[in-house]
Amino acid sequence: MISEFVDGGNQEEDKMDVQNNEIRIGIVGLGMIGSAHLSALCESRICKVVAGADVDPTRRQNAVSEFALPRCVEDYRELLDSPEIDLIIVGTPHQTHCAVAVDSLEAGKHVIVDKPLAGSVDDTRAMLDAAERSGMRLFVAHNHRFMPSNQLVRSFIRSGAIGDAFLGMSCFIGDEYERMSDPNSWKGSLDCGGGVLLDNGVHMIDILRSFFGDVSWVNAVGYQAVVKLPAKGEDTGMIQLGFDSGPVVSLVSTFVARYNGFPSDYVGAGIRHDFYGDRGSLHVSSKQPITLCDNTGQHIHEHGDAGCNTILTEDEHFIECILDGLDPIVTAVDGFEAIRVVEAAYESMKTGRRVSLAGQPLSLL
Ligand SMILES: NC(=O)c1ccc[n+]([C@@H]2O[C@H](COP(=O)([O-])OP(=O)(O)OC[C@H]3O[C@@H](n4cnc5c(N)ncnc54)[C@H](O)[C@@H]3O)[C@@H](O)[C@H]2O)c1
Repeated sequence: MISEFVDGGNQEEDKMDVQNNEIRIGIVGLGMIGSAHLSALCESRICKVVAGADVDPTRRQNAVSEFALPRCVEDYRELLDSPEIDLIIVGTPHQTHCAVAVDSLEAGKHVIVDKPLAGSVDDTRAMLDAAERSGMRLFVAHNHRFMPSNQLVRSFIRSGAIGDAFLGMSCFIGDEYERMSDPNSWKGSLDCGGGVLLDNGVHMIDILRSFFGDVSWVNAVGYQAVVKLPAKGEDTGMIQLGFDSGPVVSLVSTFVARYNGFPSDYVGAGIRHDFYGDRGSLHVSSKQPITLCDNTGQHIHEHGDAGCNTILTEDEHFIECILDGLDPIVTAVDGFEAIRVVEAAYESMKTGRRVSLAGQPLSLL
C-alpha cells in the first residue's frame, strides 16, 4: 500500500523502507501533544518522523532544535504533496482536526488524529466519509485504551469478574487553569466545540464504552465554576450515562482543580473509577494497583502503567494495522460515537432533559 505513494525520490531507499516496514510521518501541530508524539516516535523502529508543520514559528524552531526534525513548514498543505510522507498525525486544536484530516486523506495519506476525533458530530462524519472515499486509513488516538490498567479492567469486566455491573462512578480531575483562563488559548473555547466534557470527558466516555459498550442515554450538567470567560465553555461538568448493557455511570470532570492531590502528571490529571456488579466491585485510581473485591476477599492487581508510553504504543499499533491491514483496538467509529455522546451531553445541558441515543449507532444512521 505504501509503495503507491512513492513516485520520485530515492526509489531504492524507498523500497528498502517499505521492506523494513518503515512508515514516514509528518506531524501537524507541534505543541504539547505533537511534541509528545515526536518524542515517543524517536524510539520507534517501524516508523520515522520526517517532517512537521505548525503555524507558530517558535514551535517549529523547538521541533528542529530539540528533535532534529529535518523539515518544518508553516502550512501543513505543503506536506501533503510530499511523496515521502505516508502518514499524518494531527495534533492541532479540535476545531482544525476535520480540515487537516480531510485534506490529508484526500492527498492519499493515512491519518492519526489525536482525541477528540473532532469538535462536532458533523465534522467527524465528514472525516469518516473522506476516509471511505479515499481508501486511506483514519485512526483516533484515544491513548487511554492503551494503558495496561484499562486493559486489565476491561478484561475483568468483560470476563464477568464483578458479575453484571449496575453502577459506576468515574472522574477525571485536572488542572488546566492556566490555559482555560487565558482568553487567547483555544483550550476550552466554544469555537473548538466545548469545554472539559469534550476535552477530558471524551477520554472517559471512550474508555467507559470499551468497558460497557454503547451508551443509550445521557443526562448532563456543566458550568463555568471558576473561569467565567464568555468565549469559553464549561470548566466543570457531570454526565450520567446509561449503557445498553445495563449499568448507570456517573462521570465527573473538571479542568480547574488546581490543588487536587493526585500524583503530578499530565496537567495534574487524576483518574478514578469504582464499578459495582452483582458479584463484586473494581476500584481504580491513577498510578495505584487495581483492587478487585469479590466473595473471596480483596485482590490487588499491579498493571504496569508506569513503564508504558501509551503514545508510542498506540502509534505503533496503528502503523501495524496499516501495514498488515488489521482493525485497530479503537476505531474512528469509536471516535465518532464518543463525540455523539458528548454532543448529546451538551444538548442535555442546554435543555435540562435526558437525551436518548438508543438505536442510532453510526451503522444505522
Ligand atoms: N491524548 C491526549 O491525552 C492528549 C493530550 C493533550 C492534547 N491532546 C489533543 O491534541 C490537540 C492539541 O492539544 P495541545 O495541548 O497539544 O495544544 P497546543 O496548543 O499545545 O498545540 C497545538 C499546536 O497546533 C498549532 N496549530 C494550530 N492550528 C494549526 C494549523 N492550522 N496548522 C498547523 N499548526 C496549527 C499551534 O500553533 C500549536 O503549536 C487537542 O485536540 C487535544 O485534545 C490529546
